[in-house]
Amino acid sequence: MFLSREEEAILAGEAGEVMERMLRLLVRLGEIYNADKLITISSAQVAGVSYKSIGDPGLEFLADIADKGAKVHVLTFLNPAGMDIESWKELGFPENFVKKQLEIIEAFRKMGIIVSATCTPYLSGNLPRFGEHIAWSESSAVSFSNSVIGARTNREGGPSALAAAILGRTPNYGFHLDENRKPDFHVSVETDLTSEADYGALGYYVGKIVKDKVPYFTGIKNSQLDALKALGAAMAASGAVALYHVENITPEAKNFSYHGLEKITFTRKELEDTYKALNTGEEPDIIIFGCPHASLNEIRKITELVHGKKVIKPFWICTSRAVKELAKRMNYDKIIENAGGKIVADTCTVVAPVEDMGFKTIAVNSGKAANYLPGFCKAQVIFGDTESLLRRFML
Ligand code: F3S
Repeated sequence: MFLSREEEAILAGEAGEVMERMLRLLVRLGEIYNADKLITISSAQVAGVSYKSIGDPGLEFLADIADKGAKVHVLTFLNPAGMDIESWKELGFPENFVKKQLEIIEAFRKMGIIVSATCTPYLSGNLPRFGEHIAWSESSAVSFSNSVIGARTNREGGPSALAAAILGRTPNYGFHLDENRKPDFHVSVETDLTSEADYGALGYYVGKIVKDKVPYFTGIKNSQLDALKALGAAMAASGAVALYHVENITPEAKNFSYHGLEKITFTRKELEDTYKALNTGEEPDIIIFGCPHASLNEIRKITELVHGKKVIKPFWICTSRAVKELAKRMNYDKIIENAGGKIVADTCTVVAPVEDMGFKTIAVNSGKAANYLPGFCKAQVIFGDTESLLRRFML
């Protein structure tokens, strides 16, 4: 792999221990994937934030490099943490967990990383433009930025995204290159999709088949941002899809043809079968929306549904701090609290320690959450669309 003079000097330790270690990591990665060089990035997004995911070894690593002066060199956002950083007490997060989580947050802050604690950075201040090279690591954010925006990122691990943030560079391979952005499968959608949950079910179904390949969808009409984020998140969870194209909707679709590709057909039957497969529970302890983190529009729609009503199950809407603040400005938080719910920032149903908070069966509208909850949180799942989940438990 070609290295510039400056990069050679960093590798020789001239910019300090942390820079050298981080560059070594990127060079190793680049060599594994046959990258020709490092390229500059305009932003990074770092996952591996929740104490539940990284534990004490992760905390020690982050505290160590932060103490040694690690600093990011590009705009870097943080993935959700394991708790609401401000309202953890009223939400009942365990104190020992909180203490460790706050130490992790502090290490990131020290490195200059924006404590955005969200998987939707593109909705809260980190919006790349078409064609821009970035190094993001949360799989739904990767999928959204590659597919819907047309920015370019691989599905980075927490450490490689952090190293890229510190160096401001990433190895030039994978989805940074034109040749790897072409589709491998044609997915013909032959049924109407009417909710984000339907898109999540489609994503769950397709991800399982295509794994880490690139699907090209036809038959999807008028899908909005929230539907596309649900689709990409589910495909990234049940498979490892980092890029997809949708005819007439996503920006790079027009560059490619789906003719001759292996075809997957998604009809009413596959949609219904997927709903059945994702439903493993009966009576929820809680309903959790916002995987990926809810947009303001999703919160607005829930507010309209529950205004003046009571939901007999507790419910959370997980979102970013930025969106929560806007929701508060609109008094959505009051309407939701009066209905028995909470807008929860900085965390989500999967990375919060929900299993230690007594939530054994969780109702969700997200294909991604439905995919992860059984394994990662030992929870049973009720999967449905937002409106029917709320109406089922609304007085
Ligand atoms: Fe985001 Fe958590 Fe879902 S990180 S995509 S809300 S699992």
